[in-house]
Amino acid sequence: MDKQELITAFTKIYTTQPSAEYFSPGRINLIGEHTDYNGGHVFPCAISLGIWGAAAKRSDRKLRFYSGNFTELGVIEADLDSLEYVEADSWANYAKGMIKFIQAAGHKIDSGLDIYINGNIPNGSGLSSSAALEMLIGLIVDDQFDLNIKRLDLIKLGMKTENEFIGVNSGIMDQFAVGMGQKDHALLLDTNTLDYKVAPIDLKGDVIIIMNTNKRRELADSKYNERRAECEKALSELQSKLDISSLGELDASTFDEYSYLIDDEDRFKRARHAVLENERTLRAEKLLQDGKLEEFGRLVNASHVSLEHDYEVTGKELDTLVHNAWKQPGVLGARMTGAGFGGCAIALVAKDKVADFEKEVGARYTEVIGYAPSFYEAEISDGTKVL
Ligand code: GLA
Repeated sequence: MDKQELITAFTKIYTTQPSAEYFSPGRINLIGEHTDYNGGHVFPCAISLGIWGAAAKRSDRKLRFYSGNFTELGVIEADLDSLEYVEADSWANYAKGMIKFIQAAGHKIDSGLDIYINGNIPNGSGLSSSAALEMLIGLIVDDQFDLNIKRLDLIKLGMKTENEFIGVNSGIMDQFAVGMGQKDHALLLDTNTLDYKVAPIDLKGDVIIIMNTNKRRELADSKYNERRAECEKALSELQSKLDISSLGELDASTFDEYSYLIDDEDRFKRARHAVLENERTLRAEKLLQDGKLEEFGRLVNASHVSLEHDYEVTGKELDTLVHNAWKQPGVLGARMTGAGFGGCAIALVAKDKVADFEKEVGARYTEVIGYAPSFYEAEISDGTKVL
């Protein structure tokens, strides 16, 4: 959507003009999955699929939300002074949570807002439409009321919304990638310290293809919380002998020596994934910077293997896509991206092989699963911004 389309759409709904327009991206994670709530590293980037928004202040204390993606819901209304989770408010709960926590952090919002949004991130696809929305609303409020909230604080408020308002115990990766993204760069983030490095991505003759299983991430939230709890329990078992505060502090050999403390096979596998995936992420970032794309691709594959067998968050749809991607000519690596249990995978594919790749993987997937996947070429783009 461009600015003019946003202005036209806003005016049609609210019969006034918006005062500013905004964009907030989705994200893919190159590697470093399910490490962010374990104090490990992640390596995501923002993409050009995202959510656009337009807003204007009101003279009362009403909030009105309208999404071009959920026209059947019409205008959803809320009151600036009593923002609670209401099931029927659907997507607007993310907006309400964000606004509630911005106020709770001590920022003064002195009037209501009319907000229009429209996006092209496939819903429930694991490309972080929820973080994109939280950061979009955060920036709208920050900009409309000149609050000058630091970007990192807005990111933390986005995570708080997800954790406390929506009820998913997610880590900080998504809001961070969406809020801090830079065109043609990925972010190597240490989720323990929040130190990060911006790494230029030069894939030479390759492109990143996003493969959507088109399976909604049902049950994803409860399974996600379950994995997190398993890791926390494994950590507490290791802490009986080790002075650590997260699994991300362990290298593979220390983990190996103390793994006998973990009294359950599933918990052992979850922790092993967290530790090895963190090491892989650090190695992968270096390889990418050194232009060693083939080795990088093999670590991308290894990440999927670990998520499939140790962390067990892939499922038939993601495995079918990724295993078939591995077999195609011109593919350097492929893995699921995001939380898993459906959603999307990514593949590094030689530019001139993309058409064959999509045809072949699409056909094999449809044969096994019974419906087709979708493919998009990922463009690495900027984080949440005013247009
Ligand atoms: C979801 C969460 C993130 C992260 C990933 C898995 O996207 O929101 O915090 O845990 O899953 O890496």
